[in-house]
Amino acid sequence: MMGMSSALLAPREAPDSSLLSILIAPHAQLRARARPVREGDGETVRALLPRLFATMYQAPGIGLAAPQVSVGLRVAVVDLQLDDTAPIALVNPEIVALSDELATREEGCLSLPGQYADVTRPNRVRVRYLDAAGVRREIEAEGLFAACLQHEIDHLDGVLFVDHLSALKRNMILRRLAKEQRQKPK
Ligand code: NI
Repeated sequence: MMGMSSALLAPREAPDSSLLSILIAPHAQLRARARPVREGDGETVRALLPRLFATMYQAPGIGLAAPQVSVGLRVAVVDLQLDDTAPIALVNPEIVALSDELATREEGCLSLPGQYADVTRPNRVRVRYLDAAGVRREIEAEGLFAACLQHEIDHLDGVLFVDHLSALKRNMILRRLAKEQRQKPK
């Protein structure tokens, strides 16, 4: 992965931050497992990140994963947009530790607009990833940040937050989403 660094750090032109369109569930691409970023993907990832951030901020959202914009790579961005947080780009993120302690919080998803439900997940998580410069990093997160990281990493495996709910609840939300999407003016 070392070869990625220079390509990612030295854009030859101003980054293209034009918006990407976000897939809405149900969509087969949201259910596919994304493949790891390899050395040859440096240029693609460098071009993708500013557009992922721009699309997330415009939505607005606090996280967005590449499969949600039809890119099957293990890349996601997160920005809780709180006073003490910074935007984070995650390339090939991996969960290396989870707490036994669980926490329940309401989640939503840009691919399931208008739908929210309480999701229970480990309250703390340790994630290993490559940053935008291809540098290997590890972070510990808890609370909202931990939930957001798990939610985005789920997307890379084709998992949506509704998959953490009972089948009854999940189907109710997916039916409601489908109905609202049908009724939405085109
Ligand atoms: Ni999501």
